[in-house]
Amino acid sequence: MNVAIIGGGGREHALGWGVRKSPLCDAIFFLPGNAGTAKIGVNTDIDSTDHQKVFEFCTEKKVELVIVGPEIPLVEGLSDFLRNKNIAVFGPSQKASLIEADKIYAKEVMQRAGVLTAKYNQYQRDELTEAIDFADSIGYPVVIKANGLAAGKGVSICDNKVEVEKILTEIFQKNIFGRSGDKVLIEEFLIGDEASIFAITDGFNFVTLPAAQDHKRIGDGDTGKNTGGMGAYAPTGLITEALLQEIKSSIIKPVLNQIESENNPFSGCLYCGLIITEEGPKVIEFNCRFGDPETQVVVPLLDGDFLKLLFTAASGNLDIDAVSYNGGSAVTVIAASDGYPDTYEKGFEITLPDVETESSIVFHSGTKYLDDKIVTNGGRVLSVTSVNESNNLDATIQNAYSLMNKINFENIYFRKDIGKKGLKY
Ligand code: AMP
Ligand code: GLY
Repeated sequence: MNVAIIGGGGREHALGWGVRKSPLCDAIFFLPGNAGTAKIGVNTDIDSTDHQKVFEFCTEKKVELVIVGPEIPLVEGLSDFLRNKNIAVFGPSQKASLIEADKIYAKEVMQRAGVLTAKYNQYQRDELTEAIDFADSIGYPVVIKANGLAAGKGVSICDNKVEVEKILTEIFQKNIFGRSGDKVLIEEFLIGDEASIFAITDGFNFVTLPAAQDHKRIGDGDTGKNTGGMGAYAPTGLITEALLQEIKSSIIKPVLNQIESENNPFSGCLYCGLIITEEGPKVIEFNCRFGDPETQVVVPLLDGDFLKLLFTAASGNLDIDAVSYNGGSAVTVIAASDGYPDTYEKGFEITLPDVETESSIVFHSGTKYLDDKIVTNGGRVLSVTSVNESNNLDATIQNAYSLMNKINFENIYFRKDIGKKGLKY
């Protein structure tokens, strides 16, 4: 089977790495890919916002499955366009992608499905004063979220009224999120540890993959600004078997059933962002795609045929036995350009010795070839994933950092504590 993967980050590299191991896989095309994906497939510069061009490319290359990595092509309807032309697509329809692109819609689905989530009120641009008053009335910290997509930057946690006024003014009056800030949610702050769980579904049946913990803040000890994610580990001992069963029956199943009953079946990867509170698991967000960098630790923990899993999900007959957890643990540490998530320089040559084995993997994110050199090309540059067969998290962390220490580029920055919060479980 020829496969096309839309996107060019670490997530797409990891998806390709998993697909490539399948005996079903003949070739992988990345649109656009990065310097790392070029080693496992063919990078192309087809503009994936041009749906017709993507279709023509797939026809020419006899692509039988398109896997969509990022949310934006899904929200723009790429999967509907290709499916209407009889190409199998892993990734939800434009309508079903609203579960990520419209947080108020997601809240309403959860309410109709009886799923626990943080209590909230919604406000629009002409309700600045009401929004501030409400935030001030529910106790601090309070969470403010732009309703639409904001590249991972749409959530602010405010400790006092001054911060609330500042962020709401920026969203409503300075328009920092554009139309994504037409409405905001003001939400209670949930207390508890976080986990990310991927449910792979054909719209009706689903399987979950090993639960991961992301590290969203830029600094050690979860301090500083929010980022796209600075590292992850899996499986997390936070999610016991009993808790997983509860999450499946009280969150994933009812939400998928609800979306399906609204004539909108969700097929693809439902990313469940959860906080495990004293009252049990509650949803902080759903995404309509795999997480980055969680994918870089989840995919290497799967035995079986990952391509078969994605293809059968995309074809409406999910093979629930296509993959299984291999019993190990994985840690991925992101190397970023210093300055990220704000401004940073790029174009620096990366020193990248050949360190890779089945259990030591380098997944590229913002990298590209410049002549025959690999150079930095983004905020998150690459990640090293270490896999340990016997689920020894401590050893997995140490191996990830010894790998990282062999890699270098000017202005490299990485967190030193990825995975450590998992040791306490
Ligand atoms: P997001 O951009 O939706 O991934 O949210 C960023 C981070 O904000 C999450 O990883 C959580 O740590 C935090 N967060 C979001 N919603 C809440 C909430 N209601 N209570 C506590 N923390 C939250
Ligand atoms: N790692 C968080 C996300 O992919 O949304």
